[in-house]
Amino acid sequence: MVLIRERFSLTAPPQVSPPSRAALLKGLREAHAAVCTLTEVIDGNVLKAAPDLRVIANYAVGYNNIAVKEAKARGIVVTNTPDVLTETTADLTWALLLATARRVLEGDRLARSGTWTGWEPTQLLGTDVYGKTLGIIGMGRIGRAVARRAMGFNMPVLYHNRRTLDHSTLNAQWRQMSLQDVLTGSDFVSLHVPLTVETHHLIGAAELRLMRPTAYLINTARGTVVDEAALVAAVQEGRLAGAGLDVYEEEPALHPGLRTLPQVVTLPHLGSATLHTRIQMGMICVQNILAVLEGRPAPNRVV
Ligand code: GLV
Ligand code: GLV
Repeated sequence: MVLIRERFSLTAPPQVSPPSRAALLKGLREAHAAVCTLTEVIDGNVLKAAPDLRVIANYAVGYNNIAVKEAKARGIVVTNTPDVLTETTADLTWALLLATARRVLEGDRLARSGTWTGWEPTQLLGTDVYGKTLGIIGMGRIGRAVARRAMGFNMPVLYHNRRTLDHSTLNAQWRQMSLQDVLTGSDFVSLHVPLTVETHHLIGAAELRLMRPTAYLINTARGTVVDEAALVAAVQEGRLAGAGLDVYEEEPALHPGLRTLPQVVTLPHLGSATLHTRIQMGMICVQNILAVLEGRPAPNRVV
């Protein structure tokens, strides 16, 4: 923020909790540039109330919180923070996958409960990860970083991507398939699509029925990509072994079923949450804002 303060006036210093709608509207009234996070909904009305706005730097790679069409129509540049959080988010995806399959959180609770009576042959039995098949939905930067890590676990990778990808940029052993074939053929399915009109409830009741009853769903993308009620029903009815979730349909609220199912590991949207990555994300926001205000092309423009 020093870089910004040196050249421009900063009206709202960075704050930890999200601003109210009223504070957002008021704060942007005279702004030429804004940094926002994924919890700020920048819709048409917010844009209308910010006539001088020239650039919105979203402190996230996903930008489904911003009405990009309206922004474009108003000539406002929207930028995001790709690349710097790819490996960090892939690490967390694996943390969730392993924690879910090997019951790490249940084990932690038992170990510190005071009621653990010692090692038992059938205590907290989980599922092997090594050698199982990993399915990836959305083979963008993060999807590929998750797939690369699967090599260390000797896991075949199946993936679905809306566009057919240039295979020369991918590991020759990864196999591109239809969404249905990835769902039926995988032991772990991990979601890495952006949230758009097309990916809203991409994984609903019908898709969950295609998954193996021994399979796990991992979601570090956006909550609304999954029909949460259908997911809860699938786990409750034993049609799915479990799920590892970092994102939810109505953050910060969780579907009540998710709070009680031990087969579901829930994290509070931590995908990019390392100090190093969050600093880099901030630097990218600053660079994009400076570029637009100084008349240069924004390096991470999405519209
Ligand atoms: C976080 O969810 C992001 O999109 O960066
Ligand atoms: C998603 O944000 C990706 O880059 O894969």
